[in-house]
Amino acid sequence: MKKLEEKISQAISLEELEKIRIEVFGKKGILASKFAMLKDVPPSEKRAFAQGLNNKKSHLQRVYDEVYNRLKSEEIEKLLKSEAIDVSLYSNLETKGALHPVIETMDRIIDYFIALNFSVEDGPKIEDDFHNFEALNLPKNHPARDMQDTFFCRDGGVLRTHTSPVQIRTMLAQKPPIRMIAPGAVFRKDYDLTHTPMFHQVEGLVVQKKGEVNFANLKSILSDFLHYMFGDVEVRFRPSFFPFTEPSAEVDISCIFCKGNGCRVCSHTGWLEVLGCGIVDPNVFDAVNYKDVSGYAFGLGVERFAMLLHKIPDLRMLFEGDIRLLEQFR
Ligand code: PHE
Repeated sequence: MKKLEEKISQAISLEELEKIRIEVFGKKGILASKFAMLKDVPPSEKRAFAQGLNNKKSHLQRVYDEVYNRLKSEEIEKLLKSEAIDVSLYSNLETKGALHPVIETMDRIIDYFIALNFSVEDGPKIEDDFHNFEALNLPKNHPARDMQDTFFCRDGGVLRTHTSPVQIRTMLAQKPPIRMIAPGAVFRKDYDLTHTPMFHQVEGLVVQKKGEVNFANLKSILSDFLHYMFGDVEVRFRPSFFPFTEPSAEVDISCIFCKGNGCRVCSHTGWLEVLGCGIVDPNVFDAVNYKDVSGYAFGLGVERFAMLLHKIPDLRMLFEGDIRLLEQFR
């Protein structure tokens, strides 16, 4: 028995220990053969014999468990050492990734409005007629629906043509005041130098008690925002039309390429159109059952901002995944 105990104690690996285990504790092992001898022991001694054997067995089992636990933790220790990652080591800079310019631009826009206490809201990309059109004062058969070349789904849904439906969803889910932006992908049937069928917008909506917000507030926040994005530019508001705002405006900045002198990018006008905005139309508040409130809203195309900020000549380049373009943003 002392010998067996020594044998177990001296195992130097789990494999060796396992062999010993089978040899000692196995069905045809040493202990089993000792127990088999029980039948030849005279009846008066059977009890003492069996008891002695059982004691020995549990002692060996304890020794075995001890050795097993020690070898097991040694093995884990070794594994942890061999798999450890040296986090102080520099990775290969050649393979460093980068944010896509559209995402990077969107993040910059979001940061600005978060700092002004706007919440960031989200909505589904497959919308229904109510949220994408109807509630935004775009009744069925209204000619203004043609402003947006819509992708329709077979079940009557639409791919949202703008982020404005998130205005509706947010107002239906929350009580005023509202101070939100909604960034995300939108879809229109369009494909040329300045249009892709999927692009991104950031929507903004502020709703407060009636009389608490006006066009001057809208003008001030958007001018400040555009200076934050484009630096020292001139900003001008031009009367325009959107069904969900009244009055509505489009916002231009002086061309950042020619400083307003006229070039190809600004079609020799000296101005670049960058935003749509306006005072929320009362019909929109009716659709969401908001009473005694006033508000302003705005929407912008993220790709347009990214193109201007990074001097990218063709919008489609942003989605071709050409590594030579993307590598420039590392
Ligand atoms: N939803 C408009 C568009 O996609 C942009 C906009 C949003 C205009 C909010 C005014 C107010 O063209």
